[in-house]
Amino acid sequence: MAGISNEEISKIRNAASIVDVISSYINLEKKGKNYFGVCPFHDDHNPSLSVSEEKGIFTCFVCHKTGNVFTFVQDYENVSFIEAVKIVANKVGIKFDAGIQTESKYQAHYDAMELAVKLYQNNLKSKDGKKAREYLEKRGLTEEVINEFEIGLAPNAPDTLTKLLKAKKIPDNILIETGLSAEGNILYDKFRNRITFPIHDRQGRAVGFSARIYDTTEGSKYINTQETKIFKKGEILFNFHRAKSEAKKVGKIIIVEGQMDAIRVYSSGIKYVVATMGTALTKEHIEMLKRLNVTVILCFDNDSAGETATLSVGEELTNAGVDLKVLRLSMEKDPDEYILKYGVEKYQDAINNSINYFDFKLNILKRNKDLTKNSDISEYVKSIIKELNNSNDEILIDLEINKLVKDYGLDKNVLLNQIKKPEKVNIIRVEEKPKVKLSKYHKLVEALIFYMINDIKYIKLFEQELGSIPDDKYQSVIEDILAFYIKYNYINIADFVSYEATLDNYELVMQILENNSSVELIDNDFVGIIEKIKVWKNENKINQLKDELKETSDINKKLEIMDNIAKLKKRDV
Ligand code: GTP
Ligand code: MN
Repeated sequence: MAGISNEEISKIRNAASIVDVISSYINLEKKGKNYFGVCPFHDDHNPSLSVSEEKGIFTCFVCHKTGNVFTFVQDYENVSFIEAVKIVANKVGIKFDAGIQTESKYQAHYDAMELAVKLYQNNLKSKDGKKAREYLEKRGLTEEVINEFEIGLAPNAPDTLTKLLKAKKIPDNILIETGLSAEGNILYDKFRNRITFPIHDRQGRAVGFSARIYDTTEGSKYINTQETKIFKKGEILFNFHRAKSEAKKVGKIIIVEGQMDAIRVYSSGIKYVVATMGTALTKEHIEMLKRLNVTVILCFDNDSAGETATLSVGEELTNAGVDLKVLRLSMEKDPDEYILKYGVEKYQDAINNSINYFDFKLNILKRNKDLTKNSDISEYVKSIIKELNNSNDEILIDLEINKLVKDYGLDKNVLLNQIKKPEKVNIIRVEEKPKVKLSKYHKLVEALIFYMINDIKYIKLFEQELGSIPDDKYQSVIEDILAFYIKYNYINIADFVSYEATLDNYELVMQILENNSSVELIDNDFVGIIEKIKVWKNENKINQLKDELKETSDINKKLEIMDNIAKLKKRDV
């Protein structure tokens, strides 16, 4: 493992409470000895994730995902194992020793981006930045906000940044791959004379820029870094890294269109805000938002494009099961202008009064209708029924039907007849991971290995009674267990998971843990497993000898093999 010992990793694991760490991402409730929460790794509606402080592991009894504190962080934050160790170490205040290599394979890219952020910031503060500073001031961005969001100014010469970064030993290919420079006759700067807004990934690393014109009306208002190895637009929401913890704390997150809007809302003290930067939401975005497990408030621009975007994004988020509200601002074009004009308190009120997504759709359906006229009522009701027929939310359907009965004096049965019975989808079955079908012996071997990972007494019994098993894949896991045991003279699941995390058998070990998560360790059961595996080993050996028998023509050899087979059949070997 890149420069960090297993001892160090288990020290960090021991210092970290798995319950505390997982609680910082999702809500956990204590029930008996264990803690339970809504599993973030599948579309969970009940608390299916169980966390054991004592064992140092988590297991979901629906999707069967399992692991230790590091693998939870790894999967939740979508980072490498080593980065997850670093995050956990940070949480418990353990510092990695200096010189430990925990670098990502894109470290050079991140370094280049960081330098560019600094250079643009310095340039904004230099005398060349006077006009840009005036522009920002006019837009009401204080120095504090400019610093916090690391806003800068790209120089106006063709290759100032490129030259400066080259002087700092950043190679040409990195300059091109990060989108900071582009190739022409010379290597030149991608952004020129534009105000730069760094865009960060979920870990808070600068990975791209959005750059705005300020002293001209020529050209696109914004140009952004193109898709690069570290700037995956589909996975990035502006300000997400700053907003996520506050969002979890308050149970909601606001999505706005532009980064200027996000900056305004955030710096006005409402810190749970992110921006889509004018693009559609991707599946990854929806996944990110869903994992937060909070109410999403869509607050797009107050124009018809904003309304259309609210409808399409709203549909996708609702289908993904996200609790969704809509905030449509009246008068001003966007949240930035709204707050500048009416103040943050008014905006906060508007947030508190944001409406359910379904009501937002009803408002649109009502538009341009005269609901004193029967023909308009009929059209309106039919369009609502159509919407309800797309919904699986039986409570919502019931509420809306009752409202229609009350508001328009309609017959409930007439309405109910128009509602399709929602198809019952068994979410648990749909989402259950297809299990690998195991043979009887593979099941036994998995159980055997599960026991061995839990307690060295089972390792010792294995060594005495079996020594090996006739399956290369599982034998290789057993060798990892023995290596761990020989090196550290103890074993437990949580530390063994860390140990395996960067080795080849990790997937198989995870499968074994998942398949055995409900197994209780009972000594007699283990003895039974050993006995059955002995029978299997025996059969296996007999089959091997039979093959040899077929292949040899030497009569003495044949007799010897037959004798051995007979002995094995009597099991007196
Ligand atoms: P300001 O005019 O600075 O207040 O920007 P805004 O936040 O009001 O932007 P707008 O609503 O016009 O657009 C929303 C987002 O879309 C912006 O934040 C940008 O990320 C993106 N965007 C806007 N204009 C352009 C453009 O011309 N090109 C590209 N690539 N993106 C743009
Ligand atoms: Mn704006």
